[in-house]
Amino acid sequence: MGDPINVLVVGGGGREHALVWKINQSPLVGKLYCAPGNAGTSELAENVDIGAEDIEKLLDFARANDIGLTVVGPEAALCEGIVDAFATAGLKAFGPDKKAALLEGSKAFMKKILSDANIPTAKYEKLSDPASALKTLEKFNGKVAVKADGLAAGKGVIICQSHAEAAQAIDLMMVKRAFGAAGDSIIIEELLEGEEASMLAFCDGENFIMMPSSQDHKRIGDGDTGPNTGGMGAYSPAPVVTSQIESMVEKEVMGKVMEAMKKDGRPYKGILYAGLMLTDSGPKVLEFNCRFGDPECQPILMRLKSDIVPLLLASVDGNLKSLSAQWSSRSTVCVVMASGGYPGPYEKGKEIYGLKEAAVVENVTIFHAGTTLDNDRVLTSGGRVLGVTASGVTVAEAIDTAYEAVSKISWDNVVFRKDIGHRAVGR
Ligand code: AMP
Ligand code: GLY
Repeated sequence: MGDPINVLVVGGGGREHALVWKINQSPLVGKLYCAPGNAGTSELAENVDIGAEDIEKLLDFARANDIGLTVVGPEAALCEGIVDAFATAGLKAFGPDKKAALLEGSKAFMKKILSDANIPTAKYEKLSDPASALKTLEKFNGKVAVKADGLAAGKGVIICQSHAEAAQAIDLMMVKRAFGAAGDSIIIEELLEGEEASMLAFCDGENFIMMPSSQDHKRIGDGDTGPNTGGMGAYSPAPVVTSQIESMVEKEVMGKVMEAMKKDGRPYKGILYAGLMLTDSGPKVLEFNCRFGDPECQPILMRLKSDIVPLLLASVDGNLKSLSAQWSSRSTVCVVMASGGYPGPYEKGKEIYGLKEAAVVENVTIFHAGTTLDNDRVLTSGGRVLGVTASGVTVAEAIDTAYEAVSKISWDNVVFRKDIGHRAVGR
């Protein structure tokens, strides 16, 4: 074993707390930092007061602190080229470079890669002016997804049930420019029906290692009602993803994308996240993300038995072929606790009670997202505040355990869904 390496995790959400938690378990790691981190990461790593998108400052910090590996959580810095900047400076950063991150940064690019590589996805058209967009609507039956081409912080997709709704969505994106330049070109695509699931992989530009399936709960309300959020809970595995679907996705989606990206001069490294719709005619790709999902990361990493650091390093170095990953057969469930009002406006600075009582519940880990320390009080500081994550022999057991811990935590105006994992139990 060589000298321990210092690791920097970039980001401050639940995903990054889970990464810090897992990386901290590695015997290969020396000092561990998180920028900017949250109250949870500060218990395991040293928080660094640099924003996740401040590439120059992150680079200076990495140089000054002998960082051997930087792990980037959120997509914005990846799409801005943080990995390129680190590589130019001779530093290792885990994630796709700017050219490869376009798979998430541009939906039009993603759709083109999919259709060129013959990977199943919804029928679509790309448009760059509102008049042709309206005209193109005629080709669809009114039920469409209208999507801003660029990054829109997860808000750039509008599901439309009628021609009128779709026309409104086009107006909002292209005329009113609600998402700024991200909506200057748009995708119109047919609506797919089925259940959603996610499959992620570690990638090294050529080879990849699949992770177990997961499923996210995007809507704020029980029964999948109300507006979309970053994700109110997640679990792994997703029983809807049979082993047959898993191998189909491995071969027909991940394998083909890796090949297509390489052929396009953009070998893909880092986490590749495929958002899938499991339709009657097989899995179809809804989206790619160039990073771990949040909260999917929390239940997935809780199941990873292998040391994550060799996997991260091998992804950067192009050595994944010589590795494998071991996964626990237990089910894991993450229940997100959020500030009342989220995903709309919400208040911050509320004291969180019961964290210690919840932490002693067996098989539970509480990942922090929007939290901050005020002396020894933990205060809310974001929309999604905590991801209470539990494991169990069955998904039902994991759900019960997670909610037992949730019941011990409180703050003024807390909200959470009561039905995380319901689809998995239904199966
Ligand atoms: P995206 O960011 O493209 O994955 O879209 C966000 C969410 O919108 C997805 O997770 C789906 O719930 C929904 N969605 C996107 N595209 C479609 C589609 N073609 N058919 C049905 N639902 C979709
Ligand atoms: N939970 C969905 C995402 O991270 O994009």
